[in-house]
Amino acid sequence: MASFSDPVEEIRERIDLVDVVSQDVHLRKAGRNLVGLCPFHKETSPSFTVNPERQIWRCFGACQEGGDVFSYVMKRDNLTFREALELLARRAGVTIERTEQAVRAHSEKERLYWANAVACDFFRSALSASRKAQDYISRRGLTNSAIEKYKLGYAPDSWDALLQHLMRKQVTTAEAVKAGLIVPRESSQGFYDRFRDRLIFPIFDTSDRVIAFGGRTLGDDPAKYLNSPETPIFSKNRTLYGLNWARRAIGNEDRVIVVEGYMDAIAAQEAGFENTVATMGTALTEEHVNVLARFTNNAVLAFDADSAGMAAALRGSPFFERAGFNVRILSMPKGEDPDSLLRSGDRSLFASLIENAVPVVDYRVSLALSRHDLKTDEGKTAALKEATAVLAEVESAVERERIIRYLAKYHPNFGTGTALAEDHLRSEVARLRSRVSRSQKQWDSEAPAKSPQRLSLLEKSERLLLGIIIAQSVEPNKVFEALPPKEFTGDTTRGLAEALSTQFAELGKIDQEGLVTKLAGTPEGDLLTELVVAFDSSELNHPLEDVLSTIRREKLKLRHARMRALAQKFQEGVIKKGDEEFEEYWRLVRELKGTSAGRVMRDS
Ligand code: CTP
Ligand code: MN
Repeated sequence: MASFSDPVEEIRERIDLVDVVSQDVHLRKAGRNLVGLCPFHKETSPSFTVNPERQIWRCFGACQEGGDVFSYVMKRDNLTFREALELLARRAGVTIERTEQAVRAHSEKERLYWANAVACDFFRSALSASRKAQDYISRRGLTNSAIEKYKLGYAPDSWDALLQHLMRKQVTTAEAVKAGLIVPRESSQGFYDRFRDRLIFPIFDTSDRVIAFGGRTLGDDPAKYLNSPETPIFSKNRTLYGLNWARRAIGNEDRVIVVEGYMDAIAAQEAGFENTVATMGTALTEEHVNVLARFTNNAVLAFDADSAGMAAALRGSPFFERAGFNVRILSMPKGEDPDSLLRSGDRSLFASLIENAVPVVDYRVSLALSRHDLKTDEGKTAALKEATAVLAEVESAVERERIIRYLAKYHPNFGTGTALAEDHLRSEVARLRSRVSRSQKQWDSEAPAKSPQRLSLLEKSERLLLGIIIAQSVEPNKVFEALPPKEFTGDTTRGLAEALSTQFAELGKIDQEGLVTKLAGTPEGDLLTELVVAFDSSELNHPLEDVLSTIRREKLKLRHARMRALAQKFQEGVIKKGDEEFEEYWRLVRELKGTSAGRVMRDS
């Protein structure tokens, strides 16, 4: 047997992704790719794509995810990388020892945990030294024991207090940047603290290690909350704040209460609802559900009725149903969140709201009904039209039947008999359902569905540029000299550009497979796999200069627009001399060389 130094490489040599995927998915050829029905979500048109040449998979449908053979097996069997490695090694007949690389990756994470632990201690002692932060905390009704339990802290109003402390504790700047604690300055050398003048909520994993921080401003920073960025030890989509304290109670009660905010989670746990976790303002993602499913299949969402998280939860109801996850929605009184509700001291009100939470489909149906005047026939008809559209998405016939019985009373035929009204509704839902599946069949004959997002020209161009680098049709340095990674405008395109540039600096080439493995599970990793299969050769041969000049032009347009917006704000008195935005405005005026908008401020 040849002796490979790296089992990951050896497995790649020996295992064909197409063989592995073919165990689960029937693949057929489509150009240079293979396509089939995605094994990770239910669909009737094939949006799951495998590129045999590059050994990469990607779902262009609901998942929008992709990766290599390792991430495929990880996702399919819900394994860690190590477990997937072992599974594939057995299959390939490869023996694995703990490689130097594995040890290094391991110790890198260890260093990041350490950096966070140091920062956590720092924030905690800063809290005990700050009158202002303590006052704020007690105004919000947090007790000393809560401060201890949640290890709350304070990030001082300083550009480098944490930085200095980290250096004294032998944390390197590279580690501190990677942990998201400090940020490199854009214009000059050096770094500054990410969190300044903020109340700090350390975020723990289920092994009680600090993996990230959330910070609430105590000043008037327009960003009320700021979180650590995605790091090798923190992924926001997968993390639920408070799970480390809640998981036993979740298991015992076989139910989890999901709230949006840090303060909501703490207030609920402190009031005795120990089975509460927070999504930190995002939607309840598929990854969250996978994490929670280890403890329970029952969730009650206590979200703000108008929040983006609620909208996403309502859209997610077919997914929850397929995942066997029972989601109920709690109706929060207007203008309240769990924290404010519990602060007013009414524990029993929150308890009864939880007990009265309704299944997400019922919630959507009542929402549909509430939008119409049910006293008139027109109103009833319009309401039923919306409600049946919701019902058509429900997989379970029993559930559909339950709601049809409930809806029958709004049907115009109800007067002539319940059975007749129900029958009408039943056939209407059936008609909608067959239409859904027919239109999906139509898609079947087409190429894999393209990503549904609508991208601006700037975003598209940045993606194309990265696609060109990945396909290695130009020298990466040529691109990065013209457009440094930092200057990409999208967070994910910038992250990927940085990763590509770092790798190129280290290896003198782009090792796409290595990068896929390294970035697995991050938004950058998802983008990378998307880009690998996204462009055809005509697009990749697009003249580099054209792409770059489009980007320059679009960015210039954005800066002009920003300058105009700031001038407007100044005129309206929203910003004044000395404000950061005022400075920004003048910088833009100087750089974009005086425009009519510029004179407005000068005259005032
Ligand atoms: N959040 C975030 N980033 C933001 C805004 C919000 O991460 N820019 C997350 C935080 O976890 C926050 C949650 O979304 O706790 C809910 O946000 P919001 O409702 O705006 O704040 P509250 O939690 O109610 O904050 P507070 O009670 O402190 O005013
Ligand atoms: Mn709040």
